[in-house]
Amino acid sequence: RGEYEFIISEKRGEGGCVGLVTLNRRKALNALCDGLMSELREALATFDSDPGVGAMVLTGSEKAFAAGADIAEMQPLTFQSCYSQQFLGNWDAISRITKPVIAAVNGYALGGGCEVAMVCDIIYAGEKAQFGQPEIALGTLPGGGGHSETHQSHREEPRHGDDRHRREDVGSRGTLARTNQQGLPTESLVDEAIQLGERISGFSKIAVAMCKEAVNAAEQLPLNEGLKYEKKLFYSSFATDDRREGMTAFLEKRTPQWADC
Ligand code: CAA
Repeated sequence: RGEYEFIISEKRGEGGCVGLVTLNRRKALNALCDGLMSELREALATFDSDPGVGAMVLTGSEKAFAAGADIAEMQPLTFQSCYSQQFLGNWDAISRITKPVIAAVNGYALGGGCEVAMVCDIIYAGEKAQFGQPEIALGTLPGGGGHSETHQSHREEPRHGDDRHRREDVGSRGTLARTNQQGLPTESLVDEAIQLGERISGFSKIAVAMCKEAVNAAEQLPLNEGLKYEKKLFYSSFATDDRREGMTAFLEKRTPQWADC
């Protein structure tokens, strides 16, 4: 269990194979201050390089996954300070994590909170989850990917294949019920996400990482290029011990013993 001020980082699941990060600034509804984002980045990177961890779950409290970037921290900023200090510059770090990250969202996922959820690979949404990009009410606009993520399939539909995920258009806020989608029970949401993380951790880590890379590439590239990229990764899998082991184990009717990580 890592020692942090704004988050709790711990290992869960069988043999500690799932890295669980809980945003823990409850009174401020997990507003994403700089300190929290730095800790989040560090905790995820630590799990990413831990060979015992196969997937990560990111969650908040029952009331709020995260209510956005910290408005008190942003209020005194100027264009010059944003630009020169590259404000939100480190938010992209989550998209560079190579292992799957599952967002387990209860309550508010607003502004930057919605953006952080969308940059995850999978979203499990609780029945009272609310997603939205309300920045326009503050006289500004989404700055952490809200436009790109909600208006392109990029980073979204292909990866959030089940309909537990909900997005909202810029400027509005809404619940799953409004779109006739049902969320998961609030109390069991994190456990269900951890179970999914365990299931993912049971596969070859290198094969999972390649899948994630292929999906991310497909979102960025034209179809033809995406298909070529996927094919090359598929061929590359033949250079791994796990590909040989997976197929051999199938033919020998036994459970594979994964090696690569
Ligand atoms: N930043 C800083 N503090 C926040 C916050 C935020 N984004 N959201 C909530 N808080 C704080 C409140 O100031 C309040 O603090 P105090 O108790 O010290 O007064 C505490 O959290 C509880 O909030 P409320 O009293 O407002 O709780 P509520 O239940 O009445 O309302 C809410 C909940 C509707 C989520 C409301 O808090 C709210 O609208 N929050 C702001 C949401 C928002 O605009 N997010 C976008 C931020 S901009 C952004 O994210 C830019 C980007 O793209 C990166």
